[in-house]
Amino acid sequence: HLHPSNPQMAPILSAAECRAKGGAPGFKVAILGAAGGIGQPLSMLMKMNPLVSVLHLYDVVNAPGVTADISHMDTGAVVRGFLGQGQLESALEGMDLVIIPAGVPRKPGMTRDDLFNINAGIVRTLCQGIVKSCPNAVVNLISNPVNSTVPIAAEVFKNAGIYDPKKLLGVTMLDVVRANTFVAEVLGLDPREVSVPVVGGHAGVTILPLLSQVKPPCSFTPEETEYLTKRIQDGGTEVVQAKAGAGSATLSMAYAAVKFADACLRGLRGDAGIVECAFVASQVTDLPFFATKVRLGRGGAEEVYQLGPLNEYERVGLEKAKKELAISIQKGVSFIKK
Ligand code: NAI
Repeated sequence: HLHPSNPQMAPILSAAECRAKGGAPGFKVAILGAAGGIGQPLSMLMKMNPLVSVLHLYDVVNAPGVTADISHMDTGAVVRGFLGQGQLESALEGMDLVIIPAGVPRKPGMTRDDLFNINAGIVRTLCQGIVKSCPNAVVNLISNPVNSTVPIAAEVFKNAGIYDPKKLLGVTMLDVVRANTFVAEVLGLDPREVSVPVVGGHAGVTILPLLSQVKPPCSFTPEETEYLTKRIQDGGTEVVQAKAGAGSATLSMAYAAVKFADACLRGLRGDAGIVECAFVASQVTDLPFFATKVRLGRGGAEEVYQLGPLNEYERVGLEKAKKELAISIQKGVSFIKK
């Protein structure tokens, strides 16, 4: 048969034969909190990711609407929606990667820690679902306070006997994205050429940009160092204040979450040399969790890198970061142990 849309004269398949061939190969990804400010653009961007074959969108509100909307995009991933806790386990069934942006965001005047009471319980419930339906999945945890929600997730997984520290990743990518942007601005470079390691955690002084390790190599005056460090640490608050009560970063966060999730998927696929910063179980400091560069592979964060040489400003910053981090980590652990 000749067909105008089939110039190579490939055999013309019936719709049934096409269906039998099946969809694109790729990974199964669930987004929990998919109808939220981060969740919606994140779902859209993941639907555009060629490594995703199945995309499950779960929320306690509005999941059907977001799913219907996104499912009309003519990209490869098959999209399915799940609404309410009764559908949590089916949403998670067989997933390779679970991304969690569920929970309340900050309003002006709030710290990330002020979100603890609500978000801790949400993260616990969602992790219990992971235990039942996809205990081997890689988890990207976005819900704040990340410094406490990652230890909460770890405790839930430990209690269920399925904890694999390599597969639980707190998402600090937005701090890196902001650092690359702000440093590029000071250097007059394209942000895509700049790479800034950001270590520690994801709140205030626990966010520690290592400006002495910026690539391309460059040096900063004490004033530039002070300005950049503060701006990177307060980047979230800058957005919270500008939104004036309408939430926190959502669009830049969705961008950062997809950048990180894509790196995780390339790692799962077996690509070599995938290195990003994340908040993970760690022996780099005396704290049980810490954000540093990690190498992402088939097993998740397969290698956790050391901090590398720090300058005096960074050593002082590290001590401050560790002090606050220790408290936030303990708070998360005790939430489950109590
Ligand atoms: P949002 O309020 O717009 O959306 C949150 C979504 O979670 C809502 O759709 C809500 O229905 C859903 N949700 C609430 N309880 C749930 C449950 N039990 N199960 C499933 N879904 C549930 O908030 P937004 O702006 O999207 O922020 C989400 C979280 O991400 C916040 O905790 C925020 O602090 C955090 N965040 C983290 C960043 C990071 O760098 N790691 C950056 C920006 C925000």
